[in-house]
Amino acid sequence: MTAEYKVLGEVAVITLANPPVNGLGFATRVGITDGLAKALADDAVTSIVITGAGKAFSGGADIKEFGTPKALQDPNLLSVILALEASTKPIVAAIHSVCMGGGLELALGCHYRVVAPGTSIALPEVKLGLLPGAGGTQRLPRVLGVETALNMIVSGEAVKSEMLAGLPGQKLIDQLAGSAESLFDEAVIYAKSVAGKTGDALPLVRNLPCKHPQGDAYFQFARNMVGGMSKNYPAPLKCVDAVAAAAKMKFDDGLAEERRLFTGLMFTPESIALRHLFMAERAASKIPDVADDTPKREIKSVAVIGAGTMGGGISMNFLNAGIPVKILEMKQEALDRGLATIKRNYEAQVKKGKLKQDKYEQRMALLTTTLSYDELKDADLIIEAVFEELGVKEKVFKELDRVAKPGAILASNTSTLDVDKIAAFTERPQDVVGMHFFSPANVMKLLEVVRGAKTGKDVLATVMGVAKKIKKTAVVSGVCDGFIGNRMIEQYSRQAGFLLDEGATPQQVDRAVEKFGFAMGPFRMGDLAGNDIGWAIRKRRATERADMKYSRTADKLCELGRFGQKTGAGWYDYQAGKRDAIPSQVVLDLIEQHRKDEGIVPRKISDEEIVQRLVYALVNEGARILEDGIASKSGDIDMVYLTGYGFPIWRGGPMHYASQVGLYNVAEAMKRFAKNPRDDGNFWEPAPLIQKLVAEGKSFG
Ligand code: 3HC
Ligand code: NAI
Repeated sequence: MTAEYKVLGEVAVITLANPPVNGLGFATRVGITDGLAKALADDAVTSIVITGAGKAFSGGADIKEFGTPKALQDPNLLSVILALEASTKPIVAAIHSVCMGGGLELALGCHYRVVAPGTSIALPEVKLGLLPGAGGTQRLPRVLGVETALNMIVSGEAVKSEMLAGLPGQKLIDQLAGSAESLFDEAVIYAKSVAGKTGDALPLVRNLPCKHPQGDAYFQFARNMVGGMSKNYPAPLKCVDAVAAAAKMKFDDGLAEERRLFTGLMFTPESIALRHLFMAERAASKIPDVADDTPKREIKSVAVIGAGTMGGGISMNFLNAGIPVKILEMKQEALDRGLATIKRNYEAQVKKGKLKQDKYEQRMALLTTTLSYDELKDADLIIEAVFEELGVKEKVFKELDRVAKPGAILASNTSTLDVDKIAAFTERPQDVVGMHFFSPANVMKLLEVVRGAKTGKDVLATVMGVAKKIKKTAVVSGVCDGFIGNRMIEQYSRQAGFLLDEGATPQQVDRAVEKFGFAMGPFRMGDLAGNDIGWAIRKRRATERADMKYSRTADKLCELGRFGQKTGAGWYDYQAGKRDAIPSQVVLDLIEQHRKDEGIVPRKISDEEIVQRLVYALVNEGARILEDGIASKSGDIDMVYLTGYGFPIWRGGPMHYASQVGLYNVAEAMKRFAKNPRDDGNFWEPAPLIQKLVAEGKSFG
């Protein structure tokens, strides 16, 4: 059982004890009802306190139990709450730290709530594509009023207990404790003070009124607002419906309506994807062969080599987290330029009201610059972001090996080079790791942590911890060309090129993929990032992997100097100073000429084929990445695409999406595409892992 029972004098205490956050799984629910039964049967007990052990009162229903038979097994959360309401002895919830979802619903079924200051209170189910399914939509409006409750339910955001305690007329918090430390004792005193109350004298939230003065008109307004903001997500509008039911129906009818809406959401693809994301995000920080308690190195200061596009953004992450940064460059002009860009970025934030002037000054005060490697001798973590040439990296890493103190972590931001080769430039390959940030590095959430053959486990553990501190989603990748994200995007880009050859236009491809939910289609993305980057890679490929076929359209585009937004023209035309992509006749003519040169008769291509070919190209390479051990789990690949490549969140990432479509269907589509003469023979051969999973009737997991 994961709830404990004890009696202190005449007060029974039920303590939720299901680490890490007292999720209300089956065993915990049994523990609560058993404790309640004991307390009610014991004549010496006159009141009951329910509290949570460890770092939460409760984080809500046990997410890991969702979709399993245990989730529905009696006592379910609703019946636990009904049992609390039916108690003939007063029940006081002693709430601290985190009180969320089912945890808050449980507390609202108690007669009284004593709450520690600083407690985060929320109904965050909407973030999992759900709505509160154990009375939250019916009880929260009764204690906070319809508008405040609806805001909390639709946003899922947490509100601090002291804020809620100050709301006029609120009935959620009966007593705000003096401190978290005194909470339990205060709750016991409170319980003693209400001992002996029974029947109608015991307050139940369900008996409170629930109305909005504007009635239906308010809910119509709320639907319009919420509907406009929650495209692709069904849950927020259902939250409005459930709260509207609270205001319109009798309590038990509203509860039944909430249950109906909750059940309807539980198996929507959006909710399944969001729950996958929740788990995958947390799992990404765990490395299979690196124990959670691996000792970490202390990172109190950071040095960054190179003040260009990436170096500046990387530095800002650390400054934002209060960690001092020293940037090294070759020339003073480069330092001045880099510094000016950082200042400009911060000043833009200040102007928009996103950053306070004093915070900006504090951050800049943490930044120093140098032209001398000797000044890096005290840095705990040094991140290199110089030109993408192995020779340049060699010089830098040899210098770092000379000056860095023992135990300093030496990281490279390389996007394509071999981290093992870079590590071999030093006498300390165990201290070398890849930290592949994405541009703009101060904005993008993703950080690929590239694990070299000799990278120390403590180095990995430290870098994962650092990533958390600077608010990045870190995913570990092995060493290979392109790591996880760019290795996959190359296959996606190849398909995008073939689609042009065969009859699609850049705007048709972009539109189809953007309708699927990508933040940006491949051609708009190319124009933003710079088409010359891919061009350089393809030139390298021409000698390294001559067998790999590409559409030549992208090369021909670059031969015209159409590198994208930075040259005012790419796959699209751009007006000076604007980012709107305007379809270009020059590009359409170029593609048409190319087809003639290649003897291709264009055909009409459906949006469905476009999306499938692009997404399944990612999936097939993703499967190979798993086979090669470059990623340790499919959820990691999903996190890379959700946080770094604009894959639609509500589809849960390419690997999750493929699993939902069914790997059999994905493999069948690949076999159809394999008949395409543009491909180089084995592009659409389903990766062995996909074939194996199909044969076993399994998915990526
Ligand atoms: N069930 C099961 N496990 C949970 C959980 C939950 N509700 N909430 C968090 N966890 C686990 C995480 O998976 C993680 O496990 P791990 O250590 O094995 O990876 C661990 O708790 C710690 O989580 P975090 O890393 O997120 O820790 P933080 O301290 O940063 O945050 C938290 C704690 C605020 C509770 C945060 O985890 C959170 O927001 N959890 C989700 C809460 C939620 O959505 N609750 C609603 C559930 S749905 C529900 O209640 C339905 C009901 O209405 C019927
Ligand atoms: P950049 O050209 O904007 O900046 C490089 C900077 O390094 C320049 O300011 C240059 O003066 C400096 N530099 C060159 N050699 C040096 C040396 N020996 N010592 C000190 N400083 C030196 O390049 P960018 O885009 O910032 O890229 C840097 C690294 O980041 C590359 O490895 C690149 O592959 C990688 N990267 C780039 C991304 C991007 O979108 N630009 C994304 C992810 C990684």
